[in-house]
Amino acid sequence: MDKIKFIKGFLKNWKEVGSIIPSSRFLANKMIDPIDFKKAKVIVELGPGLGCFTGKILEMMREDAKLLIFEINSDFCNELKKNKDSRLAVFNVSALDMAYHLKEIKADYVISGIPLSTLVDDSRGLLLKAIKNILSGGGVYIQFQYSLGAYKKLKSLFSKVSFKFTLFNAPPAFVYQCVKNSE
Ligand SMILES: C[S@@+](CC[C@H](N)C(=O)[O-])C[C@H]1O[C@@H](n2cnc3c(N)ncnc32)[C@H](O)[C@@H]1O
Repeated sequence: MDKIKFIKGFLKNWKEVGSIIPSSRFLANKMIDPIDFKKAKVIVELGPGLGCFTGKILEMMREDAKLLIFEINSDFCNELKKNKDSRLAVFNVSALDMAYHLKEIKADYVISGIPLSTLVDDSRGLLLKAIKNILSGGGVYIQFQYSLGAYKKLKSLFSKVSFKFTLFNAPPAFVYQCVKNSE
């Protein structure tokens, strides 16, 4: 059922959604693997789609932690809002505007499924800067992509960038892990 809703979203706006089906559980596990759930108090998720990472994060999160998610697609947001977990806040706005909604809040982790490759250059740069700004010192940004095209740009912004690969996703994907300098 989720898959059909996701495909409908893709057909309405393929550039924004970026993938015809949701990520696999293998990719979801690789995405949440870098998160130290014992310590994380604020996790921000960008482009959650129908929540294939969201549910896993909530399962692992501390009782006093917060998960703040930014999804631009209102149909996906209506589905995400059905989850009544009090630790979850769903924002139906572009991730480019997240700083306005987060105010002074800094994130320990930002986990993102936004397709960087279909964003125009200006938006990609603005988004990456916005992500860096909302991370606390030593915070980690985790992003999946279907190519290594963003590697150079990420290296120019973050103090440490590494990546892993999973074959078990359609299409196979790279998971970047980018660390912000401690302040
Ligand atoms: C490739 S899908 C990933 C969905 C899900 N995380 C997954 O892995 O299956 C990309 C998602 O990013 C959302 N998106 C694209 N641009 C966005 C933006 N500027 N702000 C917030 N969400 C955005 C799309 O609506 C879509 O849900």
